[in-house]
Amino acid sequence: MINILVTGGTGFIGSHTCVELLEKGYEVVVLDNLCNSKESAIDRIKKITGKNLKFYKADLLDIEAVDKVFSENKIDAVIHFAGLKAVGESVEKPLEYYENNLGGTFNLIKTMKKYNVNKFVFSSSATVYGMDNNVPYTEDMPTSATNPYGYTKVMIEQILKDITVADKKLSIVALRYFNPIGAHESGLIGEDPHGIPNNLVPYVAQVALGRLDALRIFGNDYDTPDGTGIRDYIHVTDLAVGHLAALEYADKNVGFQPINLGTGKGTSVLEVVKAYEKACGREIKFNITERRAGDIAVSYAETTLAKKLLGWEAKRDIDKMCADSWNFTINNTEGM
Ligand code: NAD
Ligand code: UD1
Repeated sequence: MINILVTGGTGFIGSHTCVELLEKGYEVVVLDNLCNSKESAIDRIKKITGKNLKFYKADLLDIEAVDKVFSENKIDAVIHFAGLKAVGESVEKPLEYYENNLGGTFNLIKTMKKYNVNKFVFSSSATVYGMDNNVPYTEDMPTSATNPYGYTKVMIEQILKDITVADKKLSIVALRYFNPIGAHESGLIGEDPHGIPNNLVPYVAQVALGRLDALRIFGNDYDTPDGTGIRDYIHVTDLAVGHLAALEYADKNVGFQPINLGTGKGTSVLEVVKAYEKACGREIKFNITERRAGDIAVSYAETTLAKKLLGWEAKRDIDKMCADSWNFTINNTEGM
């Protein structure tokens, strides 16, 4: 297994995974339509690693463009990050989300079948645990969703499971990410959201920069020690390394396997604010507001299965995540 196709490879998690792949000696081909990222990510990946990779600006919805990538490269395995991911936007544009995330995945797996590529790692999400399970979340819990984005992950997981039943050669790992934050240590790649961020840490970063006035903390009346929501934040580099372990697992096993990638440790919104203040040496102003619709009090992973099947566990703590986020933010004030 040498040549890896990375869809969505110029995006946040994809770019960090390309770095880890190249550093471990894999050959990397990236397919991305740049709808939520920039081609400069490719140059930055090259700069960090000193290695070359191939880039195709192509849309997964264009099956001929996908075919061209497979016909021009001997792909051994695919890591599929490409998708739309904004929860609020998915409620406003459900068709676009279903079409892009499901349609893109269909074209990819059809083309994989045509070229006899059988190893596949999919970006799933802790969002598939829905609102009704108790923490820590284990992979055998029932999945559900509360918004179109979440449903795309639940549906794609089901489809991937069904195709592995029908085709015994297929090996598919669905990695359920908890809350990826942080950035590469070099400060060259990181999360580069368009407009006002929705997620906590990118928002806090903009407050630290002075571009946004104050963080709104969505509720301090949850049943948690300080009343604010608890999440399992994971450093994007730890997450990226988890994909290499998943590739190795897929190389030796067949069937469908969902696996959590989290730290197993919960951190509250107020604890994140404190850690970020420490990282940037600035005050993060905040106001307490109403709860955000669709939010749950507590989410964190049971990490035993990742340890057992992948021999992987997260190494970096919340201070490191905030320090690397700030290092990227302060070095890229005009974006990537
Ligand atoms: P991202 O937006 O930075 O990266 C996704 C990439 O996919 C972007 O570069 C975008 O241009 C590309 N893309 C989207 N649709 C495409 C299409 N039709 N054809 C080609 N390229 C397309 O997002 P990310 O944070 O790196 O997330 C990667 C994956 O992980 C997504 O599937 C996301 O749903 C999933 N995920 C992310 C998080 C998170 O908090 N970041 C959490 C859980 C799961
Ligand atoms: C959100 C999505 C989830 C998606 C994940 C991807 C919702 C309801 N959930 O998860 O489906 O998989 O992003 O990264 O959108 N917070 C504030 N103020 C803010 C932003 C966030 O207080 O401005 C709080 C939230 O209430 C939550 C925590 O910070 O307690 C983390 O929020 P966020 O970063 O948006 O992640 P999730 O809500 O876990």
